[in-house]
Amino acid sequence: MCDGVELEAIASAEGTPLYVYSAALLRERFAALDEAFDGYPHALHYALKANSNLAIGRLLHRLGSAADANSIWEIEVARRMGFEPHQIVFTGVGKSPAELAQAVPLGLKAINVESAGELARIEAIAERLGQPARVAVRINPDIDAKSHPHISTGLKINKFGVPVDAARELFATLKGRPFLKLVAVHVHIGSQVTSLEPLRGAAQFVVAMAGELGRAGMQLEYVDVGGGLGISYDGVPVLDPREYVQAIVEAVRPTGLPIVIEPGRSIVGPAGALLARVIDLKPRNAISEFAVIDAGMTELMRPALYSAFHRIERVLESGAEPHDYEIVGPVCESSDVVGRDRSLAPLAMGDLLAIRDAGAYGAAMASNYNRRPLPAEVLVDNGQWDVVRRRQTVDDMLELELAAAPVTTL
Ligand code: LLP
Repeated sequence: MCDGVELEAIASAEGTPLYVYSAALLRERFAALDEAFDGYPHALHYALKANSNLAIGRLLHRLGSAADANSIWEIEVARRMGFEPHQIVFTGVGKSPAELAQAVPLGLKAINVESAGELARIEAIAERLGQPARVAVRINPDIDAKSHPHISTGLKINKFGVPVDAARELFATLKGRPFLKLVAVHVHIGSQVTSLEPLRGAAQFVVAMAGELGRAGMQLEYVDVGGGLGISYDGVPVLDPREYVQAIVEAVRPTGLPIVIEPGRSIVGPAGALLARVIDLKPRNAISEFAVIDAGMTELMRPALYSAFHRIERVLESGAEPHDYEIVGPVCESSDVVGRDRSLAPLAMGDLLAIRDAGAYGAAMASNYNRRPLPAEVLVDNGQWDVVRRRQTVDDMLELELAAAPVTTL
């Protein structure tokens, strides 16, 4: 069930693979973070990269969220969700000159700058416009987030941010640059962080930087400690949102500065499941079978890309003795395994499975490999459900090619 609606009914009506999101859980996850600040000034900038479905963004916007966008296109989508420029921070390790040319005139809350070169490019645009640009500098604090190496960003060896010493040099140049307004310092040490210490360390780091800047006569408007709060993928509780927020507030409180966080996964991850049906069964070894399902790395790339674990459950329970399965997708890649060595009551063709905690970096990272259409997405709210993204068709996929191809090759 999802919020009182039978998943089997939704899957029967809409087909599979299908993403299903719970509005109740989205509200609950947002509120858990928001309320944990206990009145301390803050803004939650939901990281759209985790899931930028229009309906989800609009729901979070209505709840009072702000946005973190990672490209000019995410900014455009954020605007259509209702976010005003002053509610958007623009992050991202590579912002093209064209993206910056569009972003600077918008007057965003901040552009989170990743290098001295980027800062100079922003300055040039701002000067041409005659309007100072609001910038935050993303500093690489060299903190180990102790997460998966592919999603750790806070170490010196990672491509992200400005190294601490270089940041200090950059700050020293700011005084004579009237078209740059430094509003914050920013850190983001990684994603799916499940221990408090690195996150607390990141907050203490921005506090120290804000202090240095203040003493040098540069007063910040806020500090941005990024996203990264992890969730439980195996059902064993991990870091509690309240504990996480309290640690950050405790670190930042002496400065009195408002806190910006950029949570993605911790809000949408647990609120989504990917539904898929068994489309083939075949022997694997003496004790285990392959269960081929109609969702794979094209719909949910995380297991193939990071060996990520997602719980996989039968939607209709069965009391029968469990059996071992390698649950694999339909894509022509050996890495297209959704769940390794899973124990489930015996499966039959057509059985519906729910791949849990797929609301973040699931649909957002889906692809058309093997010409598989992007899956449909459904939002369940108050016992009712709506398709919030229809399933892609071959016509949708080919539209751009047909529009581009010269007539003679058609
Ligand atoms: N802020 C910045 C600057 C980020 O780079 C990210 C995520 C976030 C906020 C949001 O982090 P979150 O709260 O969701 O952990 N595709 C990977 C995750 C990549 C995260 C990229 N940056 C995955 O599926 O695990």
